[in-house]
Amino acid sequence: MTLTGRHVSYWIDSTLPSSYPTLSQNVTVDVAIVGAGLAGVTTAKLLKQAGKTVALIEADRIGVGVSGHTTAKVAALQQLIYAELIEQHGKEKAQLFGESNRAAIARLADLIAAENIDCDFERKANYTFATDADGLAKVKKEVEAAQSLGLPASFVESVDLPFPITGAIMMPDEAQFHPRKFTLAIAATLPGDGSYVFEQTRVKTVEDEGPCRVITHNGSTVTAQDVVIATNLPILDIGLYFAKTYPKRSYIVGGHIDPAQAPQGMYIGVGDNYRSIRSTPTDDGGTVLMVGGEGHKVGKDDATDERFERLESYLRSTFGVEPEYRWSTQDYISFDKLPYIGNLTPAHQHTYVATGFSLWGMAKSVLSAMVLSDRILGIHNPWADLYEATRPTPFVTSTSIQQNLEVGAHWVGDRLKGLFDSTDSVEPGVGKLVTHNGSKIAAYRDDSGQLHTVSAVCPHLGCIVAWNQAEKSWDCPCHGSRFSCEGNILHGPAVKPLEQKVCD
Ligand SMILES: Cc1cc2nc3c(=O)[nH]c(=O)nc-3n(C[C@H](O)[C@H](O)[C@H](O)COP(=O)(O)OP(=O)(O)OC[C@H]3O[C@@H](n4cnc5c(N)ncnc54)[C@H](O)[C@@H]3O)c2cc1C
Ligand code: FES
Repeated sequence: MTLTGRHVSYWIDSTLPSSYPTLSQNVTVDVAIVGAGLAGVTTAKLLKQAGKTVALIEADRIGVGVSGHTTAKVAALQQLIYAELIEQHGKEKAQLFGESNRAAIARLADLIAAENIDCDFERKANYTFATDADGLAKVKKEVEAAQSLGLPASFVESVDLPFPITGAIMMPDEAQFHPRKFTLAIAATLPGDGSYVFEQTRVKTVEDEGPCRVITHNGSTVTAQDVVIATNLPILDIGLYFAKTYPKRSYIVGGHIDPAQAPQGMYIGVGDNYRSIRSTPTDDGGTVLMVGGEGHKVGKDDATDERFERLESYLRSTFGVEPEYRWSTQDYISFDKLPYIGNLTPAHQHTYVATGFSLWGMAKSVLSAMVLSDRILGIHNPWADLYEATRPTPFVTSTSIQQNLEVGAHWVGDRLKGLFDSTDSVEPGVGKLVTHNGSKIAAYRDDSGQLHTVSAVCPHLGCIVAWNQAEKSWDCPCHGSRFSCEGNILHGPAVKPLEQKVCD
């Protein structure tokens, strides 16, 4: 299989690397924020603006997690959401959802203007389109639902995409931006006056015992009155957020398009095989068009390279664009469609989480920053109750039952995988599960023939990892932890790498 694009996110490729220090001694601040994605960086900014000292602690580099691999549409129209929200939660809560996401977009715009951040922020119309009768019915229902909530949505019969549609819902005045330019610019405003940014510093755990202690991989600690865990899925298991969400992985390809030919809005289709489409200006005056889609549950598909192939072929055939970039990332889907923003558990009065953004976390990250900074500052927030992280969990919806049953099935059933008893069967460029002296081994042979062997048991809660061919990684089908072929953590909730194993 030949893929044309380079395997790198456009957002990361078009920004310079950051280089903040690793935490190597103990520090004390008012608030520690764990995770420097959009949620963490924005929360740290709002708190520092309000006069708190903050420490932003990132395991990798600023903005290279999900927020560095997103499509970065900042939207209140999140594909199809309002008809379902009204059905599931009633009109009042659905209205608060729309209002709060619109307010988050406005807050982001204000922040960018106030700090004069060059991050390609543009107000744009946002469309969810249908290409058949079934999709059209869903779109019309969504228009009706959104309008009944007072949102400025309307039905349109055509859009400037180069294929016919049956209809679309349009929300004006939404936004898009360059997420990594934003996170880097905001992070740069944080250090000083008792505040810090640390990179390459993995947090192992947090103790909430007034004051809180954030304990990092090398034993250095940050002591703080309050701690915000913004690690996409919380690294602490105690709030059971891993069982209130499931991880979904999705793919993006991009390449230069003639600016005159580029569609002007932001678009997403409906149905399982949807495509998400937007363009972005480049620093050299050009335009890159991005197409996303091909989502699936993490660890459930090893032929992931075929997903990139389908997207590349779509980019060429639909837009005449040659793929230059390809990348992939994942997000956590909340079972009741609302993010979890608030205290980790009712007993944790000073540890907070923001998770379950359900593939629409740009506005929700900013919203999380608004809700959590208000809570820490003791300010009433009109949306805090709606998103309360400790709200009763819908463990009994059909999706949550199915997802949690699947986790159980993986925990037990995947132990029977790895029938090969020799690493000889592992060809170059491929990973396989192997049983060696009774242990499950994840074995990968690189292109030079060298074998890399690590334990196949995920250090989070013990599921067996699965091979991801496109990313050359070991992905856990239970709660989405991901590891490199050498066992290093690529995505939490795991805080420990896969154990090294020797097969001789
Ligand atoms: C393919 C795809 C496209 C998307 N497109 C859109 C879109 O167009 N619009 C939209 O609204 N949303 C979109 N989303 C969703 C959105 O990108 C995410 O919801 C959002 O980026 C999540 O931000 P975050 O801050 O929670 O996570 P991240 O950006 O992942 O930040 C978490 C950070 O925590 C760090 N971390 C993890 N563990 C530790 C630890 N132990 N110690 C220290 N640091 C740690 C990670 O390294 C990471 O940097 C998309 C998602 C996908 C998968
Ligand atoms: S991520 Fe939870 S067991 Fe692997």
